Amino acid sequence: MLSIISAMDENRLIGTGKSLPWNIPEEYQRYLSNVKGHTIIVGRKTFEISGKDLSNDRILILSKSHSGPNYFNNIEDAISAANGEDIFVTGGAEIYKQALAYADALYISVIKGDFEGSVYFPQIDPSIWYVDHHEELAQYNYYIYRRKLIDLIN
Ligand SMILES: NC(=O)c1ccc[n+]([C@@H]2O[C@H](COP(=O)([O-])OP(=O)(O)OC[C@H]3O[C@@H](n4cnc5c(N)ncnc54)[C@H](OP(=O)(O)O)[C@@H]3O)[C@@H](O)[C@H]2O)c1
Repeated sequence: MLSIISAMDENRLIGTGKSLPWNIPEEYQRYLSNVKGHTIIVGRKTFEISGKDLSNDRILILSKSHSGPNYFNNIEDAISAANGEDIFVTGGAEIYKQALAYADALYISVIKGDFEGSVYFPQIDPSIWYVDHHEELAQYNYYIYRRKLIDLIN
């Protein structure tokens, strides 16, 4: 099972390029708790920004410029290295775009409001994804999307 996890504003903004556009500790703690104990696939830029917050044993980093035991130069090899364990893809935008084709579920927090930044989550195509779970909280809406069965058959 491969899940994508992201927080975005109402215009799908996810980042400034150097950080998150907001500071919502409660939402960030929920993210850390969702991914805890799971294998993570993350882009090199996001790892440099926020990798220190993760206590996960297996963090597979995508990079074409760096190498090492935890580095992969394509997403397919990183997925294979997870050996069938559940994976969370934690971004950023470049990695979300590539991981969508492989994802079974999307864990999405939609932060209320409109923020400054330059990095966006790709479109979530309603012909492919349906909302399986929704919670409204004070500062954000929390959704779990799953891939439609019809898309799995095709
Ligand atoms: N709101 C959220 O939930 C959330 C989550 C994550 C990140 N973010 C934000 O997103 C922004 C960063 O996103 P980003 O799109 O700029 O960067 P990114 O996706 O984190 O990392 C991009 C890097 O990943 C590597 N890469 C990409 N595709 C690859 C492939 N197929 N094979 C191997 N390596 C590959 C390249 O590294 P090399 O340059 O080393 O080759 C590339 O420069 C930040 O602002 C961050 O705060 C937000």
